[in-house]
Amino acid sequence: RPRVFSGIQPTADSFHLGNYLGAVRHWVALQETHDAFYCVVDLHAITAGHDPALLRQRTRVAAAQLFAVGLDPDRSTLFVQSQVPEHPQLAWVLGCITGFGEASRMTQFKDKSQKHGNDRSSVGLFTYPILQAADILLYQANAVPVGEDQRQHLELSRDLAQRFNSLFGQTFTIPAPHIVKDTAKITDLQDPTAKMSKSSSSPAGIIDLLEDPARSAKKIKSAVTDTGREIVFDTETKPGVSNLLTIHSALSGRSIDELVAAFAGRGYGDLKKELAEVVTDFVRPIQERTRGYLDDPAQLDKLLASGAEKARAVAATTLRSAYERVGFFPPV
Ligand code: TYM
Repeated sequence: RPRVFSGIQPTADSFHLGNYLGAVRHWVALQETHDAFYCVVDLHAITAGHDPALLRQRTRVAAAQLFAVGLDPDRSTLFVQSQVPEHPQLAWVLGCITGFGEASRMTQFKDKSQKHGNDRSSVGLFTYPILQAADILLYQANAVPVGEDQRQHLELSRDLAQRFNSLFGQTFTIPAPHIVKDTAKITDLQDPTAKMSKSSSSPAGIIDLLEDPARSAKKIKSAVTDTGREIVFDTETKPGVSNLLTIHSALSGRSIDELVAAFAGRGYGDLKKELAEVVTDFVRPIQERTRGYLDDPAQLDKLLASGAEKARAVAATTLRSAYERVGFFPPV
């Protein structure tokens, strides 16, 4: 079976609909056809300052949500990044074949470091995409399901894999991005030209999976819509309405065309009202299952430890051959 790998940061109290629709939903689907490795990337979550107790809690909540939305510990290997020390070990080696300019061109780094200011941005924020490449390459992943915002990081992972292979001999599989266009960029309800993001300035634009559905309903009702009043799908002229249609379609399983036909002659208010119901029905059971996992943290930690053990077996094999090719001494 082909291999998939992906990761998600535990940087918020809940995943949002962008994370779910752009990535996690596909993780669940791919476990049916692929040998699947998924990771809560806590190492990636400390690049901009953090609270230790909160990080540990959010790491558990992230894992609980992933199980709650359908990752099956028998079919997917889900683990916490810091429990597999091979990740930073390989990242060091990859960092030594990454150009300084190459890393400087990562747009996510440029955006974030600009926001924080150069002196307050960490070196970890700069080398972040190299650690991400290590994550992927350790598992010899063929495909990496992510949202559109990760495309450039995946390009770097591919470049580094190719470079390592040509410098030291065939070692890594070249990973392909698995980006499903329809939902690859869910936008902010208050600013439908920007992506829905954990670091957005206002929570009003973000639908969290774990928030009270009544709160989600309010946010949907006050979502920015577009001029005119017809419900049509056009991301250029009607980004707000199109985003609502995209979310509806992905959660209800009804096609955009079918929805547009069903809403012909009706107003934005009707669409928002129905979408609020769709979201509510969708998140309720997920919230319940998430709580179930969090009610028994010892059991949750055990599931993750066994995931880490399985992951480590694969990661250690890859790291060993990479170390050998580079010319390091054999392990003692
Ligand atoms: P993160 O934690 O920011 O996001 C997790 C996943 O959610 C996707 N996503 C979105 N998709 C559609 N619309 C949106 N508005 C939206 N917002 C987020 C992201 O594209 C991502 O797939 N660097 C990664 C984590 C990572 C990783 C990896 C991913 C670390 N190592 C190895 C893949 C492979 C990140 O910060 O994702």
